[in-house]
Amino acid sequence: MSDSAQKPLPFGFQFLAGAIAGVSEILVMYPLDVVKTRAQLSTGANTGIITTMSNMVKNEGAASLYRGILPPIMVEAPKRATKFAANEQYTALYKKMFGFEKVTQSLSVMTGVSAGITEAFLIVPFELVKVRMQDKRNLGKYNGTADTFKKIIASEGALALFNGLEATMWRHAVWNGAYFGLIFTVKDNMPKSKDPNQQRITNFAAGTVGGIVATAFNTPFDVVKTRIQGYDGVGVKKYNWTLPALATVAKEEGMASLYRGFLPKVLRLGPGGGILLVVFETVSGFIRKNILKE
Ligand SMILES: *[C@@H]1O[C@H](CO)[C@@H](O)[C@H](O)[C@H]1NC(C)=O
Ligand SMILES: *[C@@H]1O[C@H](CO)[C@@H](O)[C@H](O)[C@H]1NC(C)=O
Repeated sequence: MSDSAQKPLPFGFQFLAGAIAGVSEILVMYPLDVVKTRAQLSTGANTGIITTMSNMVKNEGAASLYRGILPPIMVEAPKRATKFAANEQYTALYKKMFGFEKVTQSLSVMTGVSAGITEAFLIVPFELVKVRMQDKRNLGKYNGTADTFKKIIASEGALALFNGLEATMWRHAVWNGAYFGLIFTVKDNMPKSKDPNQQRITNFAAGTVGGIVATAFNTPFDVVKTRIQGYDGVGVKKYNWTLPALATVAKEEGMASLYRGFLPKVLRLGPGGGILLVVFETVSGFIRKNILKE
């Protein structure tokens, strides 16, 4: 099905396979995202992943593990398109601006950071609605995704959907910077191989290591983003700008609190990456066989 001489799928099909893979990953891994958000919103003692999940199932029903899944699914395809287009455009722009001849590590870091910031604009309203739906304090407040959008706009104004934009930009810029910087270095230092299976293993290993390190760097920004987006306009607005908010969390709850939700975030990476890979390959194979008749 996947011999080494295979040429890549036409872009439209590649995009489709990527989007299906992305949605599949969300469908399987989403409960970890709910647990992550709950941990980041909490200011008290950390409860473990298993305890959080079993309490949710017991007190709120099994469906609660999937509450808020629609916004990330809705934005998955547009997010991929944006990421791809931004990567192309920034690579071309920076090559011209700074006279890079080929893709180097610093170029790939710069491009990754810029693409991450661009992506943040698109996803932030969807992230905000997701966080509100995941928040335990909002049980019984919102009736599904459309209702959450409507109620936020009605009571807080449309601009409220962009709360947390700055923190999201930080989160993405830091993640992409660390990830692309590392991937480049790891791949550069791995033995080159023509064997597609070996290449796949190399890519998967580089992606996983890159993902773990990038997550270690960006989790504090994710904590602050969740806190900012969780504020629903009632009571004191505790967090405004990202850097002071980091200091506030560290001062009030201790440095370790900047890593709330780290474990569920990291646990998603390996299996999540595996799902992306397998679904992408499977869908690509299906398209080649049944649509392109290769
Ligand atoms: C959600 O919808 C149900 C059925 O339409 C309704 O009874 C309930 O009051 C609604 N809850 C909220 C919080 O809007
Ligand atoms: C954040 O901004 C709001 C008004 O926009 C202000 O009332 C609040 O005190 C600020 N919070 C902090 C921690 O500066």
